Amino acid sequence: MVGMLYVNSERLWGRINDLAQVGAIDGTLGCSRLALTDEDAEGRRLVITWMQDLGMDIAIDGIGNVVGTWYGPDTDRDLPAVMTGSHIDTVKTGGRFDGNLGVLAGLEVIETIAEQGLSPVHPISVGFFTGEEGSRYAPDMLGSLVYVGGLGLESALDISGIDGTKVGEELDRIDFRGQSPCPGPIPKAFIELHIEQGPILEAENISIGAVDSVQGISWTQITIEGQSNHAGTTPMHMRHDAGWVAGEITSYVRHLVSEIGGNQVGTVGKIDLVPNLVNVVASKATLTVDLRNTDDEILKHAEQELANFCDTLSSQEKVQIHREVLARFEPVAFDKALVGEVIRVSESLDISVKQMTSGAGHDAQMFARVCPAAMIFVPSENGLSHNPAEFTSQREIEDGSNVLLQIMAKLSGLRHD
Ligand code: GLV
Ligand code: MN
Ligand code: MN
Repeated sequence: MVGMLYVNSERLWGRINDLAQVGAIDGTLGCSRLALTDEDAEGRRLVITWMQDLGMDIAIDGIGNVVGTWYGPDTDRDLPAVMTGSHIDTVKTGGRFDGNLGVLAGLEVIETIAEQGLSPVHPISVGFFTGEEGSRYAPDMLGSLVYVGGLGLESALDISGIDGTKVGEELDRIDFRGQSPCPGPIPKAFIELHIEQGPILEAENISIGAVDSVQGISWTQITIEGQSNHAGTTPMHMRHDAGWVAGEITSYVRHLVSEIGGNQVGTVGKIDLVPNLVNVVASKATLTVDLRNTDDEILKHAEQELANFCDTLSSQEKVQIHREVLARFEPVAFDKALVGEVIRVSESLDISVKQMTSGAGHDAQMFARVCPAAMIFVPSENGLSHNPAEFTSQREIEDGSNVLLQIMAKLSGLRHD
């Protein structure tokens, strides 16, 4: 333990609120900063100015990940950095804490250490990684996936978004295609502070989640090609109705997930119909299916059942159904020693803690491929996230940030009397 070293939660809260003004959704606490939009760019520039104010070296890589690195007076620049961070992109109707907290808490850790005149042995890095949300460009965790070498840069730049734009073009447009190499330097360890985005900590009145794993994620885009026709004159048995098929699949996902039970979840979050008119049978429908489970075998079973259902519907309605995998990540286990450290540090700070899994995807799960990684969760009010009403109190954020500070201090070999 590094004694008597605590973050300044007022300062951190101020930065969270300042960043939330960028892309603010009027009349709410929320933000709209889809990856690589003008709002994302403005948020990026603001965080970079804060990094520069702290004297950090800024590296921007080919996929637009931004990593700020801080060296104290006695830091050995040749040692691998201890890294924290997260993302500052949001879903279109997002909150102000998802991702942003992890990045700004990282800056607060550095400012706390720097203002005491202390020096770590290892450099300390804070990253924000491109397109974590995956809402505009799939897969999610795109930037951190490329950072760790899980996807080649050229393939990533060529990804098309929901609006037809390409990652590479948008990176150029907002001037965030950097020169630093991908994959990037492997950190000594990666630890990410994030809001839970679910109801468990609040329900159990616990302040910290020591995250030991992330469930598997499967995203599929299903495109149905039918035939448009007159809504009044076409007999029901002669239709090739892409809209009806999309509805059947949507309802089947809920049915399948209930049948599997356990912690299986499934969501159809996006449906588009063409031509989307009251009196025209839809010729085309596109929908997305998000399936998640902590057990990869069960997740595979769910994927197979969905595929079978699509095949049956395709012959029944005589429509073409095409399935495209947008994202597929197996469940991830975090580093046991680091998870143990989150528990130990929380207990020594007298903060209640619970070991738990993550239902959401996170950049830390990509870093788990290359270095010891773990996460710290803080509660989400009413379990709400991906919603402008997402909220975590300053007090809860302070607790999470102090746990982060202690772990970063220990991992980086902070010298302190
Ligand atoms: C991404 O952050 C997700 O879990 O949807
Ligand atoms: Mn997030
Ligand atoms: Mn999110």
